Amino acid sequence: MIEKDFVPVIPFVSQEAGNVRAEAPSNIALIKYWGKYPGQIPANPSISFTLKNCTSATSIAYDKKNIKDSGISFEFLFEGQSKPEFEPKLRTFFERIIKYLPFLEDYHLKISSSNSFPHSSGIASSASAMAAMAACLMEMERRHNPDISPEYIALKSSFLARLGSGSACRSIAGGLVVWGKHDAVAGSSDLYGIPFPDAIDRVFHDFQDTILLVHRGQKQISSTLGHKLMDGHPFATQRFEQANRHLQEIKGILANGDLDRFIALVELEALTLHAMMMSSSPYFMLMKPNTLAIIERIWQYRRETQVPLCFTLDAGANVHVLYPNTYREKVLQFIKNELVAYCENGQYICDQVGTGVEIS
Ligand code: PMV
Repeated sequence: MIEKDFVPVIPFVSQEAGNVRAEAPSNIALIKYWGKYPGQIPANPSISFTLKNCTSATSIAYDKKNIKDSGISFEFLFEGQSKPEFEPKLRTFFERIIKYLPFLEDYHLKISSSNSFPHSSGIASSASAMAAMAACLMEMERRHNPDISPEYIALKSSFLARLGSGSACRSIAGGLVVWGKHDAVAGSSDLYGIPFPDAIDRVFHDFQDTILLVHRGQKQISSTLGHKLMDGHPFATQRFEQANRHLQEIKGILANGDLDRFIALVELEALTLHAMMMSSSPYFMLMKPNTLAIIERIWQYRRETQVPLCFTLDAGANVHVLYPNTYREKVLQFIKNELVAYCENGQYICDQVGTGVEIS
């Protein structure tokens, strides 16, 4: 599908009012997206596990406007409270998507959102929040045009989510999701995420992700600025080539269930992401001393026990510990005994691969 396929051509069946609700999960990238071109086009393809327990729930109550004017009319509540600081970001999002959902101009929208994970836990909520929002808006489109197919709804939800926050486009489908054009992945696109289309070994179907909350404060650099710092970064070209190579490589790893190569690739991706941050101008560092302490303990434990666990990092200090479900008890014991000491207030979240967005 290309961009113009998401601009509706059929006139919509108008509605007076209604309510829609969607719950969307967060995702954790194995091959990282870092660097973009205008229009939220990724500089390299990425692949992630969709999660299950870290979710955002969004509902929209829509009501026909009394006076028809152009532009989007909305109010926004986060966890029951009005949040004026989120409104500019939402307004920009609506300006970007109005072309694809022109019927929105007919309504006033009352949007409410909440997260399943603690606020300011250092877990980025933009992916789950924008995916839930996009899914709500597509449910509105479906009610205006009941003939659209589930496949179209899934791709357009992801397309819209991307315009809110790039990585959000990987939170619509479940399992493993690829975003960004790559010749080795049939159907892949820079415009939306697709479920990884090739063979996936059973071990990855219920992979575990325990998120160790190392630092719950605000990030000192937003991901928007972080992406920008890849423009003109001295290692950008090599990084984008490496990510493309890694996507080719991970195909075989996912098909064979080769955990040694999986671990080597996923940890290299995490450290490369942070190396890009540490070598940009201005440079910055999001890892904390406890992030490094956890990584060292994971390496030591893996050497001593041969348990195939590994870590990955987002744009923050928290550590995602990834491992097969069969090792769940053992790894959780290790986390409780040894890693919890490095978490802020001893907090961590148990998550695993999930099935994607749900409309209710
Ligand atoms: O979607 P954004 O703009 O918040 O970027 C997120 C980028 C990383 O989380 C660091 C990596 C990724 O691919 O999710």
